[in-house]
Amino acid sequence: MSERDPQHRPIVAPSLLAADFGNFADEVAAVEAAGADWLHLDVMDGHFVPNLSFGPQVIRALRPRTRLPFDVHLMIAPVDPFLAAFAEAGADHIHLHVEAGPNTHRSLQVVKSLGCKAGIALNPATPAEAVSAVLDQADMILVMTVNPGFGGQAFLSGQLDKIGRLRRMADATGRHLPIIVDGGIDARTAALCLAAGADTLVAGTSVLGQADYAAAIAGLHAASSPSR
Ligand code: DX5
Ligand code: ZN
Repeated sequence: MSERDPQHRPIVAPSLLAADFGNFADEVAAVEAAGADWLHLDVMDGHFVPNLSFGPQVIRALRPRTRLPFDVHLMIAPVDPFLAAFAEAGADHIHLHVEAGPNTHRSLQVVKSLGCKAGIALNPATPAEAVSAVLDQADMILVMTVNPGFGGQAFLSGQLDKIGRLRRMADATGRHLPIIVDGGIDARTAALCLAAGADTLVAGTSVLGQADYAAAIAGLHAASSPSR
């Protein structure tokens, strides 16, 4: 379990989507000081998802502001023309959606060739089996637990079975593949996801929507399943 720390705490990745968009630099510094493990950066194109957020220029501008790994979630289609720009902007991990195009396997290879970890993301309507043929190229799996496009939505508990299926598929590869959950994650839903087999928590509203970021992150770090 190389991605988990020695305490077997989950990794906590606050999402900048819930930050003050007029004050990104201070918000990034604040979540780092509050104990975040990664910074989750949601890129939306108004086409793959019905919302716009920000692109590589913003990520490049934030790169010198923090030492946190940049966990970049691309909700864009097509994805291939932009992979190099996100790698050059400072992404450490690049997640692309299996629904975003016909050449996901090659896109994951390109991400790795650019020196980034490659994540495969699944929308709620997409079954676990949709990624079975690309897991050999994936370094991590991102399970959407809301429909992508907006923060602040309610957790979809119907995704828990899929998390379990993906954990079994991931373990069958013989490699450690982190399973990231994204959408509607708070201390309560985090515990459900960790019990189902996730190990990494993306959280927008439940961290950056709160007054005390450190307390919110600590609450997520403390979330655990009975078996872990
Ligand atoms: C949604 C994004 C999420 C979002 C999560 O499309 O992928 O990362 O920021 O926000 P919350 O935690 O508020 O559901
Ligand atoms: Zn996301």
